[in-house]
Amino acid sequence: MKAFFAICLALFIGFCAAQTQAPCPAAGITQISTCYAAYFKNLNFTSTPPFFTYVQAVDKFAAQGVSAFKTLCTWSTTRQTCIGTYDPMCATGAAFQQALGVQTKDEAYEYLSAYGTNNWECGPGYSDVVANYYCLENIGLNHRSDILACFNAYNATVQQNGFSCSALATYTTCYTNVYTKYCGKIGGYIGCNLLKAGALEDVPSCASQLPTCSKNFEAHKLFGMRHKLAAKRLAQKNHNKGDASKIH
Ligand SMILES: *[C@@H]1O[C@H](CO)[C@@H](O)[C@H](O)[C@H]1NC(C)=O
Ligand SMILES: *[C@@H]1O[C@H](CO)[C@@H](O)[C@H](O)[C@H]1NC(C)=O
Repeated sequence: MKAFFAICLALFIGFCAAQTQAPCPAAGITQISTCYAAYFKNLNFTSTPPFFTYVQAVDKFAAQGVSAFKTLCTWSTTRQTCIGTYDPMCATGAAFQQALGVQTKDEAYEYLSAYGTNNWECGPGYSDVVANYYCLENIGLNHRSDILACFNAYNATVQQNGFSCSALATYTTCYTNVYTKYCGKIGGYIGCNLLKAGALEDVPSCASQLPTCSKNFEAHKLFGMRHKLAAKRLAQKNHNKGDASKIH
């Protein structure tokens, strides 16, 4: 299912994701290669396909419905377990480029963000994605242009000003709004997480600057309203007190 989104996750962060952590050891590169080879085999690839070919294969498989999504998740979680504690040390563009043998850093980042998205949709997000599968699928099938509009705006900003976490935050909000429009609040929560989980795999340093994915953002409004009411009541009370003191 993530494949509907993967294409939109070309984030152009290539030169921005400076490697600040310890480099991935050679054993980690080998391990990731092994885990991905087994994963690709499930999709009948005998070596790393170009990212777009991979996306098409997953799309085609996922189009069979929610049971296919569940199967994809068994492959994805097996891969994650296989990589084990080499994540986070080896969940980097540089390590993925080496391990997967892809030509460009950009393609490594695409695979890396797909990995992050898979880990969310097959992990913390699994039950919500399964419960809303057909609505989400419908966005991928019939409302791709809405998503593309978000992506094009993001691309234009990045082309003009270079990558920034704030551009990514705006993209996240736009993406969330599309999902909310078609699949309600829960859709927005899912879309927000799909994008964030993928993007943060590439640029973990943006974590604190991206919007919070909320299942129930009305709660904020309610909370805000309660706050306002309380403030009003307090103001009223003070006002009355003021009046009272004037009388005396
Ligand atoms: C892989 O190939 C097998 C055997 O031809 C086929 O049954 C299966 O559907 C293929 N899997 C995918 C994901 O295309
Ligand atoms: C991003 O914008 C540039 C400049 O407008 C354009 O040439 C490029 O094709 C766009 N990239 C994508 C993936 O749409």
